[in-house]
Amino acid sequence: MEQFDGLCVQGCQRCPNLVESRSRIVNGVGPDDADLLFVGEGPGETEDEQGEPFVGRSGSVLDEALGEAGVLREEVRITNCVRCRPPENRDPTTEELANCRGYLDSEIAAVDPTLVVTLGKVPSEHLLGRSVGITNEAGEIVDARFGDRSQRVLLSVHPAATLYDRSQRATFFETIAEAVDLASLGDGNGGSDGQSRLGEF
Ligand code: URA
Repeated sequence: MEQFDGLCVQGCQRCPNLVESRSRIVNGVGPDDADLLFVGEGPGETEDEQGEPFVGRSGSVLDEALGEAGVLREEVRITNCVRCRPPENRDPTTEELANCRGYLDSEIAAVDPTLVVTLGKVPSEHLLGRSVGITNEAGEIVDARFGDRSQRVLLSVHPAATLYDRSQRATFFETIAEAVDLASLGDGNGGSDGQSRLGEF
């Protein structure tokens, strides 16, 4: 039976294909009052195994970019447009995105972040409700309306893009630094000394 507490869902059966392909539901992680909320597309293989968003190779890139901006992963909230791994890592369908949308909207409203950062084309288009050329629009800030709330959204390329296109790396790292700055997080260094606070631990 489906249970949802405003942030996390258990037992959802809305998408028959994803119920088949998933090992588990991957809910968002991080403080429920985070200033910064990252929204990805959907869990991949590692996330499906571990039950946490962005813990595979893309997650390492995200962690690295946050670290360079002086922020720990534990200080931000990270979630996805869909919470179950699509088969063969295909994009979620329009119907699957719609089925999961209520959970995402509730999570955004509950966390009430200063800034939402969309990681890649799928979450950017899903949240803005229009087509997005993410390579060109990365780094742009948009005031979006979700239901009756207005939300500041920063568009970013997906961290995985940096793995197969090195030129995207600078764009991604700059956008994450911009996000940290806009949310008034970080150590104020903006990573300028190249040191991550992760090194303190
Ligand atoms: N890519 C995503 O979009 N989300 C994840 O959780 C992992 C990889």
